[in-house]
Amino acid sequence: MYKWLDERLDLQGLYKKVFRKAFPVHHSFFLGEITLFAFIVLVLTGIFLTLNYEPSIREVRLPDGRTVPAAYGSILYIDSLPFGAVIRSLHHWSAHVMIAAAFLHMLRILLSGAYKKPRELNYLVGLALLGLTVVTAFTGYALPYDNYAVTATRIGYGIAVSIPWIGDTLAQVFFGGEFPGSEKSIPRLYSLHVLWLPLTLLAVIGLHLVIMLKQKHTQPRYAERVAPGKILGVPMYPQQAVMMGILFALYVGVMSFIAGAFLAHPVEAFGPPTPNTPAVKPDWYFLWLYGLLQIIPSSWEFRLFGATIGPEFIGGALVPGILAVVGLLLPFVDVRKDKMRYLELPSEHPARTSGVLALLAFLLMASLAGYKIDFQQQGSLLGNNAVLWTLVLGVPLLTYFVSYTLLRVFYGRKAEAR
Ligand code: HEM
Repeated sequence: MYKWLDERLDLQGLYKKVFRKAFPVHHSFFLGEITLFAFIVLVLTGIFLTLNYEPSIREVRLPDGRTVPAAYGSILYIDSLPFGAVIRSLHHWSAHVMIAAAFLHMLRILLSGAYKKPRELNYLVGLALLGLTVVTAFTGYALPYDNYAVTATRIGYGIAVSIPWIGDTLAQVFFGGEFPGSEKSIPRLYSLHVLWLPLTLLAVIGLHLVIMLKQKHTQPRYAERVAPGKILGVPMYPQQAVMMGILFALYVGVMSFIAGAFLAHPVEAFGPPTPNTPAVKPDWYFLWLYGLLQIIPSSWEFRLFGATIGPEFIGGALVPGILAVVGLLLPFVDVRKDKMRYLELPSEHPARTSGVLALLAFLLMASLAGYKIDFQQQGSLLGNNAVLWTLVLGVPLLTYFVSYTLLRVFYGRKAEAR
C-alpha cells in the first residue's frame, strides 16, 4: 500500500522535504503549539455543543414549568447530559487558554525580535490570528443567552454601533440588528461563531504554519554556540511529533481535570435575561477595555464630519485600534538588514523590552479600572477617576523608564565587558 502510494505521490520526497524539518528545542517555542492544541479542542468540543444547542430566542417551556429562551434552555439541556457540563466547560476554558497562549506567544515574538526580516509577513498573519481569536470568543459570549451573556454582549454591541460611519453596518453584520431585541442576533452570532470565524481561523492558521515551515524557525541563542551556522533542532517526524503528541495529551488531561473541577459559566446561577442589568464584569481579556469605558467621562463627545465621536468609541475601538496600528507598523520601524537567524535577547534591546513591559502595565492598570464601581462601594481611593487615570497613564510610563534604566545599567555594562 505504502509502495503504491509512494510511486504516485512521492511520499519519500514529501517526508524528506517537510517531515525532516528541524524544530528548535526551547520551551518558549511550545506557546504557539499550545495555542494550536486549544484550537483543536475548541473545534472538537464545539461539534458536540452544536449537536445540542438551539440558536433561537423563541420561548420554550422547561419540564419544571418555567418559560425561557430556547438558547438558554438548550444550555441547561447540555449541562444535564452525561459529561455535557464538563465538555461545555472544556470548551469555555480552552477559549481562555487559546487567547492567553496566543498572547504569550506574541510576547515571545515581540521580546525576541522574531517579527524582523524575513518574518514580517508571518508576524502580521499572527496579529490577524490574535484578532480573529478574540472576535470568535466574543461571538460565543451571547450564545448561552443568560443574564450575564446578554449584559456582556450588550457592551460589545454598544462599542460596535459607536464606530463612526460603519457602526450600523457592523451591527447588522454581527448582530443582525439591535441587540438585545432582534430575533436575528443569536442565529447571526451562532453562524459566525461555529462556521465563518472557525473556518477563517483554520485557513489563516494553515497559512501561518506553511510560512513558518518555509522560512524555518529562528534559532535559540544556544544554537549559535553549539552548532554555529547550522540549523539545530530535532526533526519534525518522529521526535517533534512525539513531543507534540505528549504535550497534546497533557493539555487534554489537565484541561479535562480543570473543566470537571471548575464548571464554567453557571447559566442557572445567572438565570434567563431580565430587564435588570446584573453587576457582571467581562472575562479578563476584555476587562481592560471595560476599564477604559468606566473611566472615560461621558462628556468626551463631539461631532466630526456628521458622525458622533463618543466615549464608547474612544475606549472600545479607538484605543485598541491605535495599539493595533502600532503593532502592525513595528516590523517596518524596527528593521534589520540581514535575515534574522538567532533570537535576540530582551536584555540587549532595552527600549523594545521596556515598551513591552509598559504595554503590560497599561493593560493591567486599565483592567484595574474595571473594578471602579467596586472600589467606590468600598469607599476606596481607587474609586476616584483622577486616581485611576493617573495609574493608567503613570504606571506604564514609570515602568518604561525604570526598566529601561535598569536594563541599561546592568546589561549595558555587561555588553561593554563582552
Ligand atoms: C491562533 C493563534 C496562533 C497560532 C495557532 C500560532 C501557531 C504558531 C506555531 C505552532 C508556531 C511555531 C512554534 C513557535 O514558534 O512558537 C508559530 C510561529 C510564529 N508565530 Fe504564531 N501562532 C498564533 C498567533 C501568533 C501571533 C499573535 C503572532 C504575533 C503577532 C504570531 C507570530 C509568529 C511568528 C513571527 C512565528 C515564527 C517564530 C520564530 O521563527 O521564532 N503568531 N506560530
